[in-house]
Amino acid sequence: MQPEVEIRFTLNGRPVRTHVPPTMAVLEMVRERFALTGSKLACGEGECGACAVLLDGEPVLGCLTPAVDVDGRVLVTVEGLRHKADLAPLQKAFLMEGAVQCGFCTPGMLVAATALLAEHPHPSREQVRRGLEGNLCRCTGYVAIVEAVEDAGKR
Ligand code: FES
Ligand code: FES
Repeated sequence: MQPEVEIRFTLNGRPVRTHVPPTMAVLEMVRERFALTGSKLACGEGECGACAVLLDGEPVLGCLTPAVDVDGRVLVTVEGLRHKADLAPLQKAFLMEGAVQCGFCTPGMLVAATALLAEHPHPSREQVRRGLEGNLCRCTGYVAIVEAVEDAGKR
């Protein structure tokens, strides 16, 4: 068994510390070490975006990113997108637009859209489509998701 490595980082605004095997991925770490189960394991191969998290503000795939890479950095999962006790405007827009069906893609979509809105606060439809192109949804046909992100940009 490989020895575990100590890492310290900021997780959803809180300084944390844990030990991880060198082969552990960020997705496994947040789910198993911190009980943050919002980020989903779907394909496990970097194809669907369900596992997306923000690392220093950039979206990365939790299933492919080594947990040791977050040492000294700022990690935000879907749980960290809330505004205090309330949902973020983007999360509310997803609910208002009916952009959540089974919900499995939703955490990754919210993470990708948060990064997109940070870069383009009022994105065009094309920018939304491009910003979410790494995230797959099997249920919605994408229209409601794209409209939710556009709505959030307008608020
Ligand atoms: S579970 Fe990570 S990209 Fe699909
Ligand atoms: S809502 Fe089911 S996969 Fe997107």
